[in-house]
Amino acid sequence: MVQLTLPKNSTIRKGKVWNKPEKGAKGNFKAFEVYRWNPEDGENPRTDTYYVDMDKCGPMVLDALIKIKNEIDPTLTFRRSCREGVCGSCSMNIDGMNTLACTRASADSRGSVKIYPLPHMSVVKDLVPDLTHFYAQHRMIQPWLETTSTTPEKEWRQSREDREKLDGLYECIMCACCSASCPSYWWNSDRYLGPAILLQAYRWIVDSRDEATGDRLDQLEDPFRLYRCHTIMNCAQACPKGLNPAKAIAETKKMMVERRG
Ligand code: SF4
Ligand code: SF4
Ligand code: FES
Repeated sequence: MVQLTLPKNSTIRKGKVWNKPEKGAKGNFKAFEVYRWNPEDGENPRTDTYYVDMDKCGPMVLDALIKIKNEIDPTLTFRRSCREGVCGSCSMNIDGMNTLACTRASADSRGSVKIYPLPHMSVVKDLVPDLTHFYAQHRMIQPWLETTSTTPEKEWRQSREDREKLDGLYECIMCACCSASCPSYWWNSDRYLGPAILLQAYRWIVDSRDEATGDRLDQLEDPFRLYRCHTIMNCAQACPKGLNPAKAIAETKKMMVERRG
């Protein structure tokens, strides 16, 4: 019988407890269990527990993380920018769901708030995933307008109806919550493009101003890039913007069939 041994650094240990209130202390304390890993110290990952007085903190998980970093432990590392669900930087796994820390309320967690980096991605440090490959895949689908006609003097025009075809697509903020929740992407991200990138690809395929539709479909006509989607639908469930990448993928597959005649 084959015996598998997990690598030493696969165990997550219990880490430090920070700012724990004394018994009877005043305040409305909530615990945040946060994944910590520093590639430079050679230690296994750990979860540190931070107690935050919610009476002195904003309502969102990102508010608590910022408070922890500013007032309790400046070594805690995470990404954020807009703090209102627009930039896509603060995506992480909170209580088992991939979401944005800035739009998720701490009060939505019944007990402690459990915070991990996006799953199935390499970690740079703490809550920061390595998105290099994800962005390279985005670049591959050429996320810009491709045209061959003479550039108009003012602008590339689009009818109202054609513009509406981009609704449900243009709102994507590239947070990667969907791709990091897709089992097909977990196992095949080297060749499968995953829901976020395929939604982006479709966004350009259906743009009436784009003149490279055929080339874009050719690029996706591959057993892995597009066809590894098995309609598991985790992506639509995970998207914090309420988008449906699975639908965009299904529409792309339909276009592939239609063009075969
Ligand atoms: S529907 Fe497709 S893209 Fe979405 S989670 Fe499932 S396999 Fe992944
Ligand atoms: S489709 Fe939704 S979850 Fe996926 S990258 Fe775009 S905004 Fe994020
Ligand atoms: S900080 Fe920009 S989406 Fe959360």
